[in-house]
Amino acid sequence: MREMQYILILLLAGIYDTQQRSTAESDTYMAAVVEFPPVFFKDDANLTLLTNAKSYVNYIHRAGNQSADIIVFPEDGLTGLNLPNRKELDPWMTIIPDAVDNYTPCTGSTLSVSDALKLISCAARDNQIYVVINIAEKLPCEKDGCPSDKFLYYNTNVVFDRNGKVIAKYRKTNLFGEYQFNVTEIPEVVTFDTDFGVTFGTFICFDILFKVPAMNLTRVLGVKDIIFSTAWFSESPFLTAVQTQYGWSFAEDVNLLASGYNNPQRGNAGSGIYLGRNGVGTAIMPLQKKEALLVYEVPKKIKSTVVTKNQDDISNSKECSKADITIPSQSQKPLEYGTVYDLTLIYDNLDVFETAILTEGVTETKLCQNKFCCDFSVNMSNANSNTTYLLAVFYGTRTYVRTIVAGTASCAVIQCSNKSSTSCGRVQNSDTVFNSLVITGTFENCNDVIVMPMSLNSSILPIAHDTYMETIHEEHKHVTISIQPSTKNLVTFALYARDFTRDGLVSSASGYKYIFYSFILPVSIFLYLFTWA
Ligand SMILES: *[C@@H]1O[C@H](CO)[C@@H](O)[C@H](O)[C@H]1NC(C)=O
Ligand SMILES: *[C@@H]1O[C@H](CO)[C@@H](O)[C@H](O)[C@H]1NC(C)=O
Ligand SMILES: *[C@@H]1O[C@H](CO)[C@@H](O)[C@H](O)[C@H]1NC(C)=O
Ligand SMILES: *[C@@H]1O[C@H](CO)[C@@H](O)[C@H](O)[C@H]1NC(C)=O
Ligand SMILES: *[C@@H]1O[C@H](CO)[C@@H](O)[C@H](O)[C@H]1NC(C)=O
Ligand SMILES: *[C@@H]1O[C@H](CO)[C@@H](O)[C@H](O)[C@H]1NC(C)=O
Ligand SMILES: *[C@@H]1O[C@H](CO)[C@@H](O)[C@H](O)[C@H]1NC(C)=O
Ligand SMILES: *[C@@H]1O[C@H](CO)[C@@H](O)[C@H](O)[C@H]1NC(C)=O
Repeated sequence: MREMQYILILLLAGIYDTQQRSTAESDTYMAAVVEFPPVFFKDDANLTLLTNAKSYVNYIHRAGNQSADIIVFPEDGLTGLNLPNRKELDPWMTIIPDAVDNYTPCTGSTLSVSDALKLISCAARDNQIYVVINIAEKLPCEKDGCPSDKFLYYNTNVVFDRNGKVIAKYRKTNLFGEYQFNVTEIPEVVTFDTDFGVTFGTFICFDILFKVPAMNLTRVLGVKDIIFSTAWFSESPFLTAVQTQYGWSFAEDVNLLASGYNNPQRGNAGSGIYLGRNGVGTAIMPLQKKEALLVYEVPKKIKSTVVTKNQDDISNSKECSKADITIPSQSQKPLEYGTVYDLTLIYDNLDVFETAILTEGVTETKLCQNKFCCDFSVNMSNANSNTTYLLAVFYGTRTYVRTIVAGTASCAVIQCSNKSSTSCGRVQNSDTVFNSLVITGTFENCNDVIVMPMSLNSSILPIAHDTYMETIHEEHKHVTISIQPSTKNLVTFALYARDFTRDGLVSSASGYKYIFYSFILPVSIFLYLFTWA
């Protein structure tokens, strides 16, 4: 009798279990992302990897208990950011099976994968949940042209299915410093299918600001769900973590599952689940050390019925003009940073932005830099004496980690301490009220630009806004955003575009001038760049 009851319970539990999971027919799926502060034991790779992997297992159980279909962990979450130089790298690196190997680290015995990978694979299997991790990969390399240590090292996302099998692997394309790592000769564009009917694409951290592979996924393959692992270094006023995740998801109108490395004192924080033009599902931007599991039921996006862009424009993939006008480059000066509670923020240098001081009352104005123009319509009251708001317009380039040039354009209202554009983005509470605020930017209408809404309040979170409207013309498009009435504590309200046509590399000779712009980089490099000043 006892046994019968037991079997019955098991059967019921089994049915309950399968009912909990999303299927190809479900309208939604259950996603989980982890804001995670890794532990780090200097000179002990095994202990570091194993301790963090055990924490992952615990999160996988918790997410499984909440019916999650998929869980995402952050960039560098198993090794920590403080990887040694290349000579001492080996113990920190892991052999990872390829998807074509059909290999399940939990049960397999033919490949010598690390214990960390095995534990995670088993946890995926035990909880019947898809798991995405980021880990430092080593790939044996025997050909001519291989490094003398006969290994290639990659910053890699690994995807396990519900049975713990490795079904996909993506190697980071846009390294942010990270000089220990290699990049693949041809950038990988990686997707994987799930049994709940969603095809995901995946990329890592700094990749989010570039065309390849992100735009391949969203604009060529039409992928609607992206997995993003990150160890972001937040930069104010435009590129703090959650603000950027939200802005990118919104601009591409795709779901974004973003898991962030947590170490606020070094500038790393911020995770969330974003629903494209349906806004933020859930997000956190901890100003102090914190770990958290975020679980959210994500509505599936159906490719054919959600038309947010003119599909013809995309398939025609209109070439952008590469008019050789002289454009400004953000000037080089020592990196400045400050803190909000325990969170370190890098301050962007806005001294070559075209700016105007915003005064109390109603302002209707157009502000241009070269031929790039933005229209502002503002009704501001209760102007607070400890904050000043500037209108700011920029169309030019900036440089990351000494050598990487990136085209950017922005139309912004930003909070500053005083009338100088070098005092902006310090993040203060402010009683200044925006009764209305409308910004329109005119951007080239081509396939090489992404225009993101980039807003921020004094909690370092994006501000929900009323509207984002695109009006597309032959040669250009207008993008308009407006804010909800009576918004206070505003730090940034902006359109921020990446213009991929202006991307490139600085020649090494002039590279020295471009040292100081940096985020998303390992602490060692961060400090190295800083001390170089
Ligand atoms: C998962 O849920 C079960 C049943 O509610 C509970 O016994 C177990 O402790 C939970 N596990 C975790 C890791 O929360
Ligand atoms: C670390 O773990 C690997 C197996 O995962 C083992 O081969 C190696 O000997 C360990 N290293 C140390 C220093 O314990
Ligand atoms: C891999 O990275 C190392 C260290 O940066 C570098 O010396 C080597 O040339 C790279 N090899 C390839 C094939 O990219
Ligand atoms: C990704 O896009 C770039 C240019 O936009 C193209 O050159 C490249 O071939 C694409 N990669 C893949 C794998 O489709
Ligand atoms: C500006 O906003 C205030 C407060 O909502 C309102 O009373 C005033 O009429 C507005 N001014 C204009 C010109 O719209
Ligand atoms: C403006 O604010 C910045 C940063 O808070 C400060 O360094 C600078 O001295 C201030 N300038 C003036 C003129 O008050
Ligand atoms: C600025 O003013 C706001 C509102 O009055 C206040 O909350 C904030 O603490 C002030 N900030 C500074 C730096 O004085
Ligand atoms: C900032 O915006 C978030 C919502 O995006 C809100 O929860 C939070 O209270 C806001 N913070 C402030 C200081 O207004």
